[in-house]
Amino acid sequence: MKAFRHYARYYNLLYADKNYAAEAGFVQGLMQKYAPGAETILELGCGTGGHAVQLAALGYELHGVDLSPEMLAMAQERLAGTPAGRLSFDQGDIRTLRVDRKFDAVVALFHVLSYQLTAADLAATFATARAHLQPGGVFLCDFWYGPAVLTARPEVRVKRMQDGVISVTRIAEPVLHANANVVDVNYQVFVQDLASGQIEEFHETHHMRYLFKPEIDVLHEAAGLTHLECAAWLTGREPGCDTWGVYSVGKL
Ligand SMILES: C[S@@+](CC[C@H](N)C(=O)[O-])C[C@H]1O[C@@H](n2cnc3c(N)ncnc32)[C@H](O)[C@@H]1O
Repeated sequence: MKAFRHYARYYNLLYADKNYAAEAGFVQGLMQKYAPGAETILELGCGTGGHAVQLAALGYELHGVDLSPEMLAMAQERLAGTPAGRLSFDQGDIRTLRVDRKFDAVVALFHVLSYQLTAADLAATFATARAHLQPGGVFLCDFWYGPAVLTARPEVRVKRMQDGVISVTRIAEPVLHANANVVDVNYQVFVQDLASGQIEEFHETHHMRYLFKPEIDVLHEAAGLTHLECAAWLTGREPGCDTWGVYSVGKL
């Protein structure tokens, strides 16, 4: 996967406005509801560890896995500020990953599931989750919700973020492939060094699969999980044609 190679270096700045603490609190609420007493988490697609550090701060022991060495390098930098033994990270493909351990919960957060493009990729990801759950454990993931993607239609967006050293401007130009349930998000990113004024430009395409509730039901069933909940991310409301981000919870 080429996505996240260059992007990783600017990822934390681009998402500095994302409330990882509140999202970790939301995840904790779902775990308390469906797997009370859960202590250990396997995070699929942990990226730079934004959720991982927050979940560790809430007391969970978490092992994070990601395909991108660049994202993982940034996650490793966060280990210093975390109690020893609470967090670990490793490289792996969540479609084929097998670690010799089971967890109380498996999570895949911030659209990691939507990066799995084909039916086989999605089924393999669910099989990975299933393979690492203790009996009674839960799999929690979120994804782009098909009804909203097809109603709102992906549009060109510009995001600008700045810290004391650089400014990043990201233009996202999406192309919808309606027969594959995939959107190609073509990113053009300009990074300006504030001291010298020099500008670096790069391009990356992220291929995003959008999903519908019936196929989420099928994915759970095929993996041997009971699908407990499918609702709007962070609100828990019934999802609809205006709900881009939806999560599901399945239980072993
Ligand atoms: C949008 S980022 C989310 C990262 C992190 N969960 C967060 O909330 O910041 C998606 C992540 O999924 C990872 N990813 C996508 N497909 C993967 C796969 N098959 N195996 C492992 N990681 C994958 C990417 O490398 C990237 O770090």
